[in-house]
Amino acid sequence: MAARTTIYNKILQKSCNFGTRSMSSWWTHVEPAPKDPILGVTEAFLADTNPEKVNVGVGAYRDDNGKPVVLECVRESERRIAGNQNMEYLPMGGSVKMVDETLKLAYGENSDFIKEKRIAAVQALSGTGACRLFADFQKRFRPESQIYIPVPTWSNHHNIWRDALVPQRTFHYYHPETKGLDFASLMDDIKNAPNGSFFLLHACAHNPTGVDPTEEQWKEISYQMKSKGHFPFFDMAYQGFASGDPERDAKSIRIFLEDGHLIGCAQSYAKNMGLYGQRVGCLSVLCDDEKQAVAVKSQLQQIARPMYSNPPVHGALIVSTILSSPDLKELWLKEVKVMADRIIGMRTALKENLEKLGSPLSWEHITEQIGMFCYSGMTPEQVDRLRSEYHIYMTRNGRISMAGVTTGNVGYLANAINEVTKSA
Ligand code: LMR
Repeated sequence: MAARTTIYNKILQKSCNFGTRSMSSWWTHVEPAPKDPILGVTEAFLADTNPEKVNVGVGAYRDDNGKPVVLECVRESERRIAGNQNMEYLPMGGSVKMVDETLKLAYGENSDFIKEKRIAAVQALSGTGACRLFADFQKRFRPESQIYIPVPTWSNHHNIWRDALVPQRTFHYYHPETKGLDFASLMDDIKNAPNGSFFLLHACAHNPTGVDPTEEQWKEISYQMKSKGHFPFFDMAYQGFASGDPERDAKSIRIFLEDGHLIGCAQSYAKNMGLYGQRVGCLSVLCDDEKQAVAVKSQLQQIARPMYSNPPVHGALIVSTILSSPDLKELWLKEVKVMADRIIGMRTALKENLEKLGSPLSWEHITEQIGMFCYSGMTPEQVDRLRSEYHIYMTRNGRISMAGVTTGNVGYLANAINEVTKSA
């Protein structure tokens, strides 16, 4: 018995001391990750107990009472599918019906590319998942390539291409003085990038700046990118939020298609259907022909399989039901416009309030920028003061999610912004 105990103790000791490591030391070198610059703001907001607190951090639509919204078309779609569907796995590429409907929104209802089956497309875990799938695909099949990313961009774009091990370069986009597009520098960067570079473009309602190129500028960008043989990858997370009309918001993509580009595109229903937590999106890659599209799709599925196997079914069903039912689609288009219009109204209200308070600064850009965000021009220190003195939460780059501004809080917000910026 004594001998047995000794052997047991020796084994225990060996398994506890692996080299110099003791059993409790596997993860001692792991430091806490830095807070996410966007989702970390929501965490801090939720932890604040002040009743006056305001969250204009994350891009998530709220009604005029500051409450999350479930669209009526979504509720009706849920009623129609309730009890009707089984819970089987979707194929690795997701719901074919949802994907087919989604492609029409980006490429056009009567797109020849769809008819010719030239688009490799799979359901993705919202826009983030679509970008990540593409980044992994890019790394696998264009291992020497880099991605050119606008300055600034949605912070998660950097994480996505970083984790896919694709080197990142940047191109000029926003001009801090004009608070508009730095078109000349953007064009120079496109010209100076090595031929055949990958460019990440926001199809509409640029996040975080709310600054989009005009139609003419898109044409010039497309022309220049074509002559350089660059690959345009569109992230279209806000289709419908720029103009209130998803068809108009796809204009940038349509210009590139007319010019003969082979594009990639990430689409998301988080914002325009309010399906944030359902994680429904689509990744598409326009190919030379059907044969190539079949091959590309099979590879996208192969990338998805070891990550999450196949995407979730419920959100995809909601979307495909809405988009394939004429009455629900019509209702959806109306509801998107209501959301976009409420945000436009809040832009005017915020600007007018700041002007009434006698702010010495110009706030024209609040109404000139479009989409869900206003890139206010506030410094990180001013944003910190808004949080510590007024319980107003936003990202430190000065981005205001206009979707969180309401008739109830716009006066309070304007006053606080005026207080922290008036001596600047
Ligand atoms: C945002 O930019 O606030 C949204 O896209 C939410 C997110 O995931 O960052």
